[in-house]
Amino acid sequence: MELEVEVERILPGGLGLAHAEGKTVFVSLAAPGDRVRVKVEREQGNVLFASIQEIITPSPVRIEPPCPYFGRCGGCDFQQLNYNAQLAAKSDMIRDCLHRIARLENVPDIVVTPSPNEWRYRMRAMWQIDQDEHTIGYYERGSRRVCDVVDCAVLRPELQARLEEVRATDWHEFPPDLKHLDVVAGEESVSFAPAFANFETRELSLSIRGEVYRYNAEAFFQINPSLLGPLIEFALGDASGESALDLYSGVGLFTLPLSRQFQRVTAVEANPVAVRFARRNLQDARLDNARVIAAGVADWFRSAPVRDVKFVLLDPPRAGAESAVIKGILNLHPPQISYVSCDPATLARDLRKLVASGYAIHSIRGFDLFPQTHHVETVVRLQIL
Ligand SMILES: C[S@@+](CC[C@H](N)C(=O)[O-])C[C@H]1O[C@@H](n2cnc3c(N)ncnc32)[C@H](O)[C@@H]1O
Repeated sequence: MELEVEVERILPGGLGLAHAEGKTVFVSLAAPGDRVRVKVEREQGNVLFASIQEIITPSPVRIEPPCPYFGRCGGCDFQQLNYNAQLAAKSDMIRDCLHRIARLENVPDIVVTPSPNEWRYRMRAMWQIDQDEHTIGYYERGSRRVCDVVDCAVLRPELQARLEEVRATDWHEFPPDLKHLDVVAGEESVSFAPAFANFETRELSLSIRGEVYRYNAEAFFQINPSLLGPLIEFALGDASGESALDLYSGVGLFTLPLSRQFQRVTAVEANPVAVRFARRNLQDARLDNARVIAAGVADWFRSAPVRDVKFVLLDPPRAGAESAVIKGILNLHPPQISYVSCDPATLARDLRKLVASGYAIHSIRGFDLFPQTHHVETVVRLQIL
């Protein structure tokens, strides 16, 4: 079925919202203000999922997507928007989630700090590999087929160069069961997981705000280094005091600066490789007032071994914090919480519980760590009423 619709705005998740024939229409790769003819791909209750067949009147913020893989590759879904429109859509998405899911009244306008680089910013990626089809790249939109990508315009040049080397490697050198490759860049080089041929799981380092972080491709590290300084500054502010918690702490991005602002810090992280790097990063920085616990945060809360915590920072994966974690935080009753999130919807779900239990929003800021995609990093600072 085909319809003609006008795209009203971009929703959390990145789809355009339109209405037709009494139904809600979700339009992929749309720009707000587009008048388009769409094809309905799928129907779910009162919602139609549609793709653009023809742009009748383009939105004033629509631009020609520069990447030849746009539309097929599942990696970027915002290249059709000029950069200001991307930032505005992300600000609206965060507000929408806080209003609709967290049920917050009078959500203020949310500033989204732009990325200094709109392209070639990504220092971490996962490359999908199909050894039958001999393709390397990213999954195609809505499928598990690998889109064969020769040049990815959001990769930092050093990663792009290594993508070309991986692509030039003889297929016989690939481990037969290799389906994807984690890659991350650092100041010295690039690290691969798993290692194969001459692609090593190297240890790398990166300096941010004077702290040196070591890591490799087996541990999480943020994608866009250019905004990490401002992200840390906003998330921590001038919080200080006796004791802080850093939950889902990775290799210690926030643990190191927290250890300079608080007398005691406890960091909790499940990935043993990240834990090892976090301990080493603290040791190299001569910070002996922090301990890193290797555990799932929910499991760790079950044994609840801390008290009198003044500040909790949490930075969970996209799924947000488990409900046992939110309960654990509420039991601790810290005066301040800083929630760092890469998914406004799960952030809002968790904020609703915190706000219902007596926390007020002190400040909110978005950080555009992921230009050309609908993803956005959000930091919400809360304080107890
Ligand atoms: C979004 S990353 C944040 C890491 C770190 N704060 C940073 O900014 O580099 C989430 C981290 O949580 C860890 N993780 C995922 N599930 C976890 C769990 N249930 N308990 C503890 N850590 C977990 C991951 O290994 C990852 O390091």
